[in-house]
Amino acid sequence: MRGPGSVIVFDDATKMTEFVIREWERASCEAIRQRGFFAVALSGGRTPVPLYLGLAARRDIGPWDKTHVFLVDERFVPATDADSNYRMIRERLLEAVDIPASNVHPVPTGLPDAESAAKKYEEILTSFFGLSDGELPVFDIILLGLGTDGHTASLFPGSRALQEKGRLVDSAVLGNARHNRITLTFPVINSARNVLFLVTGKEKAEVLREVAEERNTALPASAVAPGRGRLLFLADPDAASRLSAGLRRMP
Ligand code: 6PG
Repeated sequence: MRGPGSVIVFDDATKMTEFVIREWERASCEAIRQRGFFAVALSGGRTPVPLYLGLAARRDIGPWDKTHVFLVDERFVPATDADSNYRMIRERLLEAVDIPASNVHPVPTGLPDAESAAKKYEEILTSFFGLSDGELPVFDIILLGLGTDGHTASLFPGSRALQEKGRLVDSAVLGNARHNRITLTFPVINSARNVLFLVTGKEKAEVLREVAEERNTALPASAVAPGRGRLLFLADPDAASRLSAGLRRMP
């Protein structure tokens, strides 16, 4: 069964980064022209690091004073913790560009627990986007990763957050000594104008096939299907190695 998203395979991380930077520039110009600002939500993890470094190296990306950066998800750790997504994105990207501090919206992990942080982040989104009751924020770009277990954001198999339809942000208590999490919910992810999965490495080949090609509903990432937005899976050859030829589109 063909998924709603296209898969684009890139020879290497550099070409993938260059593609995403072009998408970023296109979406940024359109957003700022139409709405006066560009809102993105970024994921943590290993895969997007080359992209963040590539964005940081471009002097002509921007304008950063009209760009707002949010987090797709966060570990419930201090912002200085080595496991903090915000710390990784700050060190790889935000410290290298002229983005005003007021345009950076980390998850407030200084609160007593993950649920309080989720509630506060929902207030931050509601205020920034000027949402009325029941209204969803519309991000211009949401960047997602894909875990080998089929999770994306901090929407893990078996998590209560997978069923959340009313909240914008949820918390997740994860067992086996992993950090509790805060995550955007599917309604927010699926209201974005552009959702880009970045997937690299042979260890992701099977899960990418099950999500992008089979749309295996047992895997949380298969529930990412933006109603009006674009969905793209961006992969390197290793991650795309189990996809049938019909789904593999070179740039
Ligand atoms: C996180 C991420 C998470 C990540 C996937 C893939 O908080 O870890 O937001 O959802 O995108 O786990 O991680 P890698 O890119 O490191 O494979």
